[in-house]
Formats: sequence, C-alpha cells, structure tokens
Amino acid sequence: MKSQQPYQVYLDREQLVHAAVQRWVELANESIRARNSFHVALAGGSTPKPVYELLQRENLDWDKIHLYWGDERDVPADHPDSNYRMVREALIDHVPIPETNVHPIHVQPDIETTVVAYRQELENVNRGANGQPCFDLIMLGVGDDGHIASLFPESSALTVNDSPVVSVYVEKLNSWRVTLTYPVLNTARYLMLLVSGETKAAVIARVFGSETERKFPVQKLAPQGRIEWYLDQAAASELPEST
Ligand code: 6PG
Repeated sequence: MKSQQPYQVYLDREQLVHAAVQRWVELANESIRARNSFHVALAGGSTPKPVYELLQRENLDWDKIHLYWGDERDVPADHPDSNYRMVREALIDHVPIPETNVHPIHVQPDIETTVVAYRQELENVNRGANGQPCFDLIMLGVGDDGHIASLFPESSALTVNDSPVVSVYVEKLNSWRVTLTYPVLNTARYLMLLVSGETKAAVIARVFGSETERKFPVQKLAPQGRIEWYLDQAAASELPEST
C-alpha cells in the first residue's frame, strides 16, 4: 500500500458515517446502472454499524443489491458477536432486500465446512481478470493493531493467495475466524476503510507516517481498484498535519 493513499478527515464519527453512506449509495447506483447489480462485502465490528442503520432510509434498488461479509466470527448467527446478526438488526430487517440477495458466512460446527460453503456463495460474484471474485465495494474497519477483516498481524491468512476465503485461528482473541483474503480485497473495484476514535490514532499515524514501516496487515493491501480512507479527527489526531 502506498503511504500517500487518499484519506479524508471528518470532524467526528457522525460526519464520517454520513460521508460513507453517501459514497455507498453513489457506488450502488453507479454499479446498478453499469452492471445491473451491486455486490458489496460488509465490514464487521462497531464502526460501520451506524452506516448500515442510515442505509435503511435510502431509496435503493434492493432487488439488485447483494450483501456479503468480509469476515465472521466462529459463532452462531444469533450470537451477540455475530457480524451477520449486527447487519441483520441494523439493516436487513428494515429494508426490502430479497433473502436470496443476502449471502452470510454461514457458520457451521465444522469451520472448514463454513469455508467451503462461503466459497460457494462467492461464486455469485463476477470474476476479475485474475479469476478472483470482483466485489463492487468492500468495506473494512481497521483494528488498533492494523488488522483488516480477520487478517491479523503474524496470521497464517496473510500469505494465502490461492483461495478467496480461509479459516484462521486468532491467537490474541483465542478464537477462530473466517475471512476474505488479500487476493479478493485487492480485486475489489472500491475499498472503503472506516476508522474512528482515538484508539486508532497511533496505528493511523504509523500507517501514514512511515515510508519504511510495512508491518501492519492494512499496509499489505495492493488494491487494483480505488481505496478511500474515512477518518475522523480523533483517529487522525496523531498525523503530522493534524498537530
Ligand atoms: C470484525 C471486523 C474487524 C473490525 C476491526 C475494527 O469482525 O471485528 O471485521 O476487522 O473491522 O476490528 O473494529 P471496530 O470498527 O469495532 O473498531
């Protein structure tokens, strides 16, 4: 990832969220006009939740929108930690999207079965020139350790380049995850990175501050498409230009 990636700093989380919603709607309408569909991989965690909540109010052609997930925790769909449950409660239960357009990482007792099933779901996504699923949009949060999706530092998943989705044991969380891999993230037409709060200030300063340091998973992105960072002032507070 080049350190001069474009980022926009918003006054606060609310303004960041509104900007992300506006771009999401633009991309959806553009994709539906151009390709009669919009395939988006959603981020988990807390930052994107208000984006999903505000999308409820948007006048979108939900018949042509397909929702996927960038990663999922190894928990049932009704578990409080489930990224699927978070999106269902924040968005899916409030909009007229056909059930067949919702493609969760369907967690099963055996995690490899989950991986195989999701790889099948990804068959619904058009392929890029490299044969990988080409999402119109992939949304990502960034952890304070620089992880994206469930691509954590020192993880075995960081070097996977022959499969679009893998299971991975996350030491620091003492739990399994299922995650998209870099080949898919890098093939997306558009990557939207949402980073809010002062807990992310240190990692943002290091990601954008150093030309040499490349240790964070987010820095290993090599997107073929467009990447845009949405930061609030708290997350950007340790960047040189903000001091
Ligand atoms: C997850 C996410 C994860 C998240 C980051 C940031 O399943 O938790 O995919 O990658 O985006 O941990 O999370 P916050 O937005 O809650 O800070």
